Amino acid sequence: MKSTELLYRGGEKLKNGGIVSPICESGLILSHLLGKADDNLLINPIEVNTAEVSSFDKLINLRLNKQPLAYLIGYQYFYGRKFFVTEGVFIPRYDSEILVLAVLNYLRSDKVYNINTRYNALDWGIGTGVLMITLILECPQMKFVGVDINHQACQVAEINVKHHGLVNTTPIYQVDGFTYSKLVKSGSIDILISNPPYIKSSLLEELSPEVQKEPISALLGGKQGIEVSLKILESYYDKIAVNGRVFLETDNAKLLIKEAIRYGYQPENTYPDLSGQERVVVFKKKEGC
Ligand SMILES: C[S@@+](CC[C@H](N)C(=O)[O-])C[C@H]1O[C@@H](n2cnc3c(N)ncnc32)[C@H](O)[C@@H]1O
Repeated sequence: MKSTELLYRGGEKLKNGGIVSPICESGLILSHLLGKADDNLLINPIEVNTAEVSSFDKLINLRLNKQPLAYLIGYQYFYGRKFFVTEGVFIPRYDSEILVLAVLNYLRSDKVYNINTRYNALDWGIGTGVLMITLILECPQMKFVGVDINHQACQVAEINVKHHGLVNTTPIYQVDGFTYSKLVKSGSIDILISNPPYIKSSLLEELSPEVQKEPISALLGGKQGIEVSLKILESYYDKIAVNGRVFLETDNAKLLIKEAIRYGYQPENTYPDLSGQERVVVFKKKEGC
């Protein structure tokens, strides 16, 4: 069978199964399976053997059973770069690119910023490592430590660190991020970033079948969805340098800001996502605290 025929056949099945971009996904699955670029498979069709057809059909069926595409093809693009991802690890979302832009915006406007300024940074809950890896690649003065409670996430992040040429510069620790706070020197973090779990526990049942395939520990942020974020702010308060910044992704910026003030932080900025919802909040540790 020709690759084009198989690609369109897969697309038809995905379309009938309600997948939003059926041809695109079918092409990505086939190119992953055959190890060839998907545009090549359309322009220069190749002959696909029976074993490959049967593997392809299995992957299409998994997708019809709502297995996320990123888990099937093993990667996801973020900020224009490729990141590996496996089952059991949170799949990076485009919304989180806003957090990257927020940090870069802050660095560009920082009065003390120059090419020699070193920023000690912590990524709380690295997942695949997309946030810290992207920030280091965009701004090599950032020296990151990454922590995640999930062993698989740390393994995948290590692979991504290596893939992006950052080995030996970016320590990753598999640890509970709250326990880790006790090991950090007071006032030593200039920038803390996190895309913490922030979905309200009561919404678990309402999540799409795809999202439900991701680890729950990466998703649920407590009764109101802001509990993990507040705990991060509280437990790292002493560890943040005076005038240091905390960048948090959230879906409830208003409530997060209201509650965070109690912990000695001043909201400095918010950044909306493409739907207009405030997605990232920047907190400044108050001067003199
Ligand atoms: C929403 S995911 C974000 C992953 C990644 N930063 C990203 O933006 O794609 C949240 C991450 O926090 C991690 N996490 C949850 N609870 C944690 C804890 N107590 N300590 C450290 N990491 C934790 C999860 O394992 C998950 O990888």
